[in-house]
Amino acid sequence: MAFDVNDFVACCSAAVREDDAPERIATILREAIADPDGIANAIAQRQFGQSPTPMADVFVSSDELTIYHVTFPPNLYGVPHDHAGWAVIGVYKGSEEFYVYAEDGHRLVRRGRKVMRAPSVEILAPDLIHDIENSQDETSGSIHVYGNRHFDLPRRRIWRDEGAQPEPFTVDRSFAYGMERTNRLRRERGLEETDMPERGDLVSRSSQ
Ligand SMILES: [Fe+2]
Repeated sequence: MAFDVNDFVACCSAAVREDDAPERIATILREAIADPDGIANAIAQRQFGQSPTPMADVFVSSDELTIYHVTFPPNLYGVPHDHAGWAVIGVYKGSEEFYVYAEDGHRLVRRGRKVMRAPSVEILAPDLIHDIENSQDETSGSIHVYGNRHFDLPRRRIWRDEGAQPEPFTVDRSFAYGMERTNRLRRERGLEETDMPERGDLVSRSSQ
């Protein structure tokens, strides 16, 4: 059956009430990303007429469940953050990559790196601290599911860089710090001419 946003949200809303919610949602996501064109078509229909289209298109945002579709452009770099709960990520197009961090005194240290190349589904641990990047030439496509509120949740934390103190997570900080990091890394890599997203393109307005 073709991917349908409302059906997907309904399935995840039922699964999130179960003890093994992340595993159930990983199964739902694996089925969804097995048909990448189905997701792409549903998103294209949903975003028809929108310009620019949001990088994070929010399907649902509540205290129990947040789901959004992400398009992450090439050579874009987000800063370290936590989710204050589990997450399930399904990449159906391109690649999403991240470093995993541990807190070491007053700084973060890198403990590992994960490359999620489509098709790929991962359950992320509730205490995970990671960043996000797309170092490939292709814009990625993925669906992110969280068992809590995700945007502007003060008990979530964000770090401006590895040596900074954690701050409460806000979309504004995420955008500002991510653009700082992206500018710095693009300068180092000679990619300054690449397009940059605008703050207004980041998250769909309807459901923050
Ligand atoms: Fe994250």
